[in-house]
Amino acid sequence: MSKRLNRQVQLAARPEGLPKPADWAITEEPVSEPGPEEVLVKVRYISVDPAMRGWMNDRPSYVPVLGLGAVMRALTVGEVVASNSGAHRVGDWVAGLDGVQDYAISDGSQYMKIDTGLAPPQTYLNTLGIAGLTAYCGLLEVGQFQAGNTALVSGAAGSVGAHVGQIAKLKGGRAVGIAGGPEKCAYLIDELGFDAAIDYKKENLYKSLGRACPDGIDLFFDNVGGDTLNTGLAFINVGARVVICGAISQYNETRSFQGPSNYIRLLMRSSRMEGFIYFDFRDKWPGMLKDLATWRAEGKIVCREDITEGPVDIFPDTLLRLFSGENFGKLMIKLPE
Ligand SMILES: NC(=O)c1ccc[n+]([C@@H]2O[C@H](COP(=O)([O-])OP(=O)(O)OC[C@H]3O[C@@H](n4cnc5c(N)ncnc54)[C@H](OP(=O)(O)O)[C@@H]3O)[C@@H](O)[C@H]2O)c1
Repeated sequence: MSKRLNRQVQLAARPEGLPKPADWAITEEPVSEPGPEEVLVKVRYISVDPAMRGWMNDRPSYVPVLGLGAVMRALTVGEVVASNSGAHRVGDWVAGLDGVQDYAISDGSQYMKIDTGLAPPQTYLNTLGIAGLTAYCGLLEVGQFQAGNTALVSGAAGSVGAHVGQIAKLKGGRAVGIAGGPEKCAYLIDELGFDAAIDYKKENLYKSLGRACPDGIDLFFDNVGGDTLNTGLAFINVGARVVICGAISQYNETRSFQGPSNYIRLLMRSSRMEGFIYFDFRDKWPGMLKDLATWRAEGKIVCREDITEGPVDIFPDTLLRLFSGENFGKLMIKLPE
């Protein structure tokens, strides 16, 4: 019998507004041995994502509703520590959806093998994972960004936004970012190469957008929703693409999502607004990952990591950092070995 113990963070209740401690249960039980054709993975990094808030609701979504008592869904990177499967060897590193727990047993079919020689393991939750892929899919596939275009990016200092701005620059465009606070705005300009940054916490967004986008916006990559989406719509050019990636300002709303009253600009500017989930482009990921790995190796794409180290117990508090803007870079938890 294995002496390993598995701690799990389970969803105990559906939150109203911001998740609170009572919405979680933390359990511990011995880890079983993997059965025939199964693998046992030690989770090493947990991706902490705004979408997790939506996964806690009992509403139709792009993923099945998470049951009460289920382990919290999370993207993970881990190491195979026992295997009865021909497809996975002990010592292999894999990216998957193992959830907020120390160990996971499965048939291994969900895993993507990762090359830790190419990049450190946590990069597969950042540039070579959800953040880089989401930016690539939204900007280039959905948004059809072209050289000479101006992109407006909200949530620009976050993990997705940081990649969007840098890819827009790589493709010969202009990038204007919206972020909270002077430190994040300086990061946009000095480290990521954005052309302009707007501190939405201090500035009047409408006035600052007028100054930063004198020729309007060809692509609006929106991560925030609410007033930010509405204000950005006022500046779109003819033929603009408004890419709905997320709406973090709305995820903890106890009332219904706030829609944009400026939607009529889509008609006036013969434009379109389109949402997407990065899984939609799964077939194209191999080519995208090749590009992202090349850009990363050439130093053309960087993204801060915000890694908190500790047991799974720190997950509830870590998640809240996304909604206060306390995270600076791709938020992850590194579990003890
Ligand atoms: N469609 C997809 O497939 C897909 C995939 C991944 C992520 N997403 C979406 O992409 C967005 C960014 O995700 P991420 O992982 O890169 O997170 P992140 O941007 O690294 O972190 C969240 C940031 O959002 C900002 N924020 C929080 N509350 C806000 C509010 N009320 N108003 C304005 N800004 C607020 C904060 O930055 P400031 O300090 O600047 O306020 C915070 O640091 C999210 O909406 C997420 O749901 C979509």
